[in-house]
Amino acid sequence: MTRQMTLTTFLLPLGYHRNSWRLPGSCAEDVPGLDFVVSLAQMAERAKLDAVFFGDVSHANGAMRGDTMMNGFYEPMTVLSAIAARTSRIGLIGTISTSFTEPYNAARQLAALDHLSGGRAGWNVVTSTDGFANFGLAEMPDPVERYRRAREYVEIVNALWDSWSDDAVVVDRDGGRWLDPTRVRPIDFSGEFFSVAGPLTGPRSPQGRPVIVQAGSSGPGKALGSAIADAIYTAQPHLPTAIDFASELRGLVADAGRDPERVKILPGIVPVIGDTLAEAEEIAAALGEMLDYDQGRRQIAADFGIQLGDIDLDERIPEERLPDPGQLSSRQNIFRSKAVEGGLTLRELVLDRARSTGHQWIVGTAATVADRMQQWFEVGACDGFNLNAPYNPGGFERMCAQLVPELQNRGLFRTEYSGETLREHLELPRPDVRFSTSGDNR
Ligand SMILES: Cc1cc2nc3c(=O)[nH]c(=O)nc-3n(C[C@H](O)[C@H](O)[C@H](O)COP(=O)(O)O)c2cc1C
Repeated sequence: MTRQMTLTTFLLPLGYHRNSWRLPGSCAEDVPGLDFVVSLAQMAERAKLDAVFFGDVSHANGAMRGDTMMNGFYEPMTVLSAIAARTSRIGLIGTISTSFTEPYNAARQLAALDHLSGGRAGWNVVTSTDGFANFGLAEMPDPVERYRRAREYVEIVNALWDSWSDDAVVVDRDGGRWLDPTRVRPIDFSGEFFSVAGPLTGPRSPQGRPVIVQAGSSGPGKALGSAIADAIYTAQPHLPTAIDFASELRGLVADAGRDPERVKILPGIVPVIGDTLAEAEEIAAALGEMLDYDQGRRQIAADFGIQLGDIDLDERIPEERLPDPGQLSSRQNIFRSKAVEGGLTLRELVLDRARSTGHQWIVGTAATVADRMQQWFEVGACDGFNLNAPYNPGGFERMCAQLVPELQNRGLFRTEYSGETLREHLELPRPDVRFSTSGDNR
């Protein structure tokens, strides 16, 4: 059988294109309630997508500047638990920050989601770039320290997920033993950031270890992802750099002693789909008209940590005003190079950021979007995509009803689920854990 794509979707109920909530019929009144978001997840499941994905930020700084698109209206673990009850096959990936939470809680929540959903849980590991003021911190720790903490955090979570042997629950009614305590062990972890005794509160979950996704594209981000992740989210607007990223990452995975075939590289894509190219262009233009350019200017100023009040929208940002690339995250560097090498004016930059957030943006019919995805997939730039609906529900409906069938007709995507768990959808083996019952299991 031909190799098929992995497709997840970034579920942003207010739409990926900034201010697309202003379109008629956007369901903007229904956020953060349950029914609308469940209807999107069910649509994704009918399209046989691998997973829905919820990002998260633990602050309202963007929303306070007028940009609601990425705000954490939904807390991922709670909304995914509710979605679990109203779907049956689709994977459920949620973000938890390693900078603002404790690994014991995260291990427990994710294992619980895995149990409740019958093995569909996934965790997007992020180190966060903002939100420190809500957690008693004076500033964000620098990226190197954040990633060091993340590495330790993930090690603990994995150890906790393995702290109950798969055969620990014996349910021996005659003997009066539900559990064999020799098959449950503490982890006794003591490190730079955390001290955790373990074991976890309950039995090993259906997947053993929920799927781990990671999304840092900086040096420390790639080092972490290649060591711990089952899938990598990344913003790659151009094919040549996407190919370089994929080949570098596969090399790092091999260096970490892991199989590169078992780490899915999933760049984001924002497709604006019409029945004809002209219709798609009309939709893209209508989305552009929703923008407030002063708000966009404030957002870009905040992203770069600079003043932009004196720059005319039709001017470029002077290069000397932009921070050096080394001071910026990988995503901010995408926009830095669009401004410097790409020569975009401030107006063009606001529009580009609003519609792409640094991802690949494409306007076309289902067939032309599928052509592009097929090209990226076949040249090895990726193993699939994280689909970003530019607007909801219409943009997502078109992805599910037009783009996915086009990929299916080409044999590039499944027409039915063959597995039950997210690991099975991704063709990842389940890691077994069985302890010796005779010796010391610590
Ligand atoms: C598809 C995708 C989703 C992401 N989701 C989140 C998120 O929900 N919360 C968050 O704080 N960061 C998120 N990030 C940001 C990354 O985790 C990371 O912090 C960012 O890319 C900066 O780190 P880097 O310089 O190592 O790339 C996401 C990135 C990508 C590509």
